[in-house]
Parts: sequence; C-alpha cells; structure tokens
Amino acid sequence: MQQPKPTSTKTRIAAIGDIHVQEGDAGKWVDFFKEVSENADVLLLCGDLTDTGKESEAEVLAEELRACTIPVLAVLGNHDYEHDQVKKIRKVLAQTNLQLLDGNFTVVGDVGFAGVKGYGGGFDNHMLGMFGEKLNKDFVQEAVTEALKLDAALAQIDSDDSAIKKIAILHYAPIKATVVGEPEAIMPFLGCSRLEEPLNRRGVIAAFHGHAHVGTLEGETSTGVKVYNVSRPVLLKAEHPTPYYLLEV
Ligand SMILES: [Fe+2]
Ligand SMILES: [Fe+2]
Repeated sequence: MQQPKPTSTKTRIAAIGDIHVQEGDAGKWVDFFKEVSENADVLLLCGDLTDTGKESEAEVLAEELRACTIPVLAVLGNHDYEHDQVKKIRKVLAQTNLQLLDGNFTVVGDVGFAGVKGYGGGFDNHMLGMFGEKLNKDFVQEAVTEALKLDAALAQIDSDDSAIKKIAILHYAPIKATVVGEPEAIMPFLGCSRLEEPLNRRGVIAAFHGHAHVGTLEGETSTGVKVYNVSRPVLLKAEHPTPYYLLEV
C-alpha cells in the first residue's frame, strides 16, 4: 500500500514498542499521538499493542489513534495473542490509520517498511536447533517461518523498486546485543538470530523491535545493520529525550 509522500526529502521515522494498552487507558495516549504527529512522518509500533490481547483493549487503542495524523505501521506482539482474539483485534485496528504488517510491506516516501512479529529461539551459537520432540521442532519452525516471511517482504520491496530504503519492524529481537540487560536464562524467549540473516542479506538500513523490556536501546548486526530496541521501558530507562525513538533516513 502506497502512503502519501512526506513533505521533507528525508523521512522522519518515530518508533516505540510495548505500549501495552489497557482497558482503563482512555485518554492516556492522546498527547503522545498528537506530539509524534508533529515530529515525524510515520510511526512504527513494535508489538504488544495491547496488554492482554483483548478486543476491548484494541478498541481503546483505536480511539486513542484518532489523535494521530500520520501513518502508523505496526506488528503484533506475544501479548496481543494472549486471549486468542487476534482476528477481532485486526478487525478493530483495520478501521483506524494503523496498518498491521505480517510478512508484507508498505512504502512511505522513499522508505519501504517490512514487518513481522518474529519469534524466539536464542542467539548465535546458542540458538535452538531443529531436533528432538515435535514441540521443540514446532518452536524452531515458528522462528524459521517468521524469518522467511521477513525475507519475502524485503525481497518484494526490492523487486518493486531497488532504490527504496528498507526498514524492518519486529517484535522479537534479531540480535543478542539489544536484549542484553535481561536475565541470560530468558534470552531464548526474547528473539532469534534467524531474524538477523535477512536484514544483512537484503541491505536493510535499520530494524526496530520491542519485547525485551529491560534490554539495550542500540546494537547492530554482524554486517553493521542498526538495530533499535524501542521497547517503551527501555526508552524510559535510557532517559531518551522523546517518548519514542526518532530516526531520519
Ligand atoms: Fe511487552
Ligand atoms: Fe512481548
């Protein structure tokens, strides 16, 4: 889907993850969405849009989004799956200016945004392999599938126009560096290196993710692709000057 071209030649990308909207949050996000609309051309929401994955929480978010006048691109997070109401959440959010990405992409100006939720599995030499019980294999397969979806979405951007800059939106982390700060024991559940390979091979400029609430704001892949953990608690802990991360490309 082609969004309107921003007025400036550069595209100002605002990003935040883990807003965890609750039923009692009516009015809480209005100022945030107004401010970000003035300072950015597009807003990325990196999953855990709702606190417990209820349709009623998505309805509160939909109402808050009326204050947002720029395109919003989002992926779902694990919390959005908690009550098995993803279909209903998608339907509610489809009525807003938020576009959910799940293995597809959208273009704003000269930037293509590919989005997937991603999944866990661990990092580098400690990544879980396809071995043993079926449940184990299913766990690994989910990460493989998400990585393939990300790769396909990035490839599609290239085939449409190879001059377009590429940005990835994820919930789970693609590298270990941006989950550092979390307990080692839970790292396999925070992301997976399988998500890193498409970022490197497809020449992505930057990837944004959330999920690791006490992780690290900035890192990079083995080939130097910038990775930002924009989880709301991470931005707050880093005393970031704005309540969202802002990147101009
Ligand atoms: Fe979260
Ligand atoms: Fe999460």
